[in-house]
Amino acid sequence: MAAPRIPSALTYELLAKCSVTKARAATLHLPHGPVPLPIFMPVATQASLKGLTPEQLEETGCRLCLNNTYHLGLKPGQATLDAVGGAHKLQAWPHNILTDSGGFQMVSLLELAKVTEEGVRFLSPHDGTPMLLTPEHSISLQNSIGSDIMMQLDDVIATTSPDIARITEAMHRSIRWLDRCIKANKNPEKQNLFCIIQGGLDLDLRRECTREMVDRDTPGIAIGGLSGGEDKASYCKVVDTCTGLLPEKKPRYVMGVGYPEDLVVSVALGADMFDCVWPTRTARFGNAITARGVLNLRNAKYVDDFGPVEEGCQCMSCRSREEGGLGITRAYINHTTAKETVGAHVLTIHNVYYQLNLMKRAREAIIEDQYPAFVKEFFANLYDDKS
Ligand code: GUN
Ligand code: ZN
Repeated sequence: MAAPRIPSALTYELLAKCSVTKARAATLHLPHGPVPLPIFMPVATQASLKGLTPEQLEETGCRLCLNNTYHLGLKPGQATLDAVGGAHKLQAWPHNILTDSGGFQMVSLLELAKVTEEGVRFLSPHDGTPMLLTPEHSISLQNSIGSDIMMQLDDVIATTSPDIARITEAMHRSIRWLDRCIKANKNPEKQNLFCIIQGGLDLDLRRECTREMVDRDTPGIAIGGLSGGEDKASYCKVVDTCTGLLPEKKPRYVMGVGYPEDLVVSVALGADMFDCVWPTRTARFGNAITARGVLNLRNAKYVDDFGPVEEGCQCMSCRSREEGGLGITRAYINHTTAKETVGAHVLTIHNVYYQLNLMKRAREAIIEDQYPAFVKEFFANLYDDKS
């Protein structure tokens, strides 16, 4: 028996499908405005993209960023979120926000987190008091945050775990927790709850989980438990298997994916949304993402390189003064990323822009039914002689 329809606060407008791969171009209409798909979502863990003002993030073209329930629930905490009227107001961000539910962050950040049927038990990193994050509490926090897309609390196991019994248990528990999250959502007309498919690298478990979750009819669907060190072939098989069973008219989000080559391949496998801390984190180490691969601008060879981070890039940092940009050079970043923070900020702008622009170009290619040629050119540039 099909579950009763739950309310949705989004519309998925399919614009084009690739005639060769499973790539799709769409516009996702969310409460805080339209978002082009496919999309990369930068991660603003603490309601800020480290070093960037909301205005600078907006200027990169970003219209949907990520916050973490776990971090915002601890600080500023639910009372402050309620008082200010949610995370959009807290961070002066007029566009869309997606919140991860918190369980994944806890299990990956805290060694002492323990998962039971009730929820995730952990010790507060502030004062060590025992705490419990249940599906109901995660949704209550996400309702206070007011995110446009909320994620269910899920039971996440490392993809490389050999413990198939535990992976199976986690998959079934994630389905039960989805039901609890759906019941707990006080704001389904304004906040979209996405399910998260689990099941490790076992394709039968993934199929079973996908069918169960599709039955619950959430406005969007995520594929979780990946990007944890599994080989690329296994990763692709899981994404391909899941997208093959998903309804066409709903957004599909692969969690924790952010390398440009993974985005390009995952789009071909029918995925629409991605997030990862890597592009912003790696900027703080002086790494620039470019079409020719990642360049470490701390390297001595950039000391007197007065070109932009990437020739032809239209981001605020790379554009010249005449073009209305900052005219930042590789030499400046080489000089500033080690001790000063400004080099990291301008490089963060470039890296976020690069990721968003890559997905924008992918979308255009899909609309023109040129996605296979786009993929070919992308990999030809990436593996071209870098000298
Ligand atoms: N971030 C990356 N992978 C996951 C996952 O499987 N679940 C959740 N909640 N967040 C993630
Ligand atoms: Zn740039």
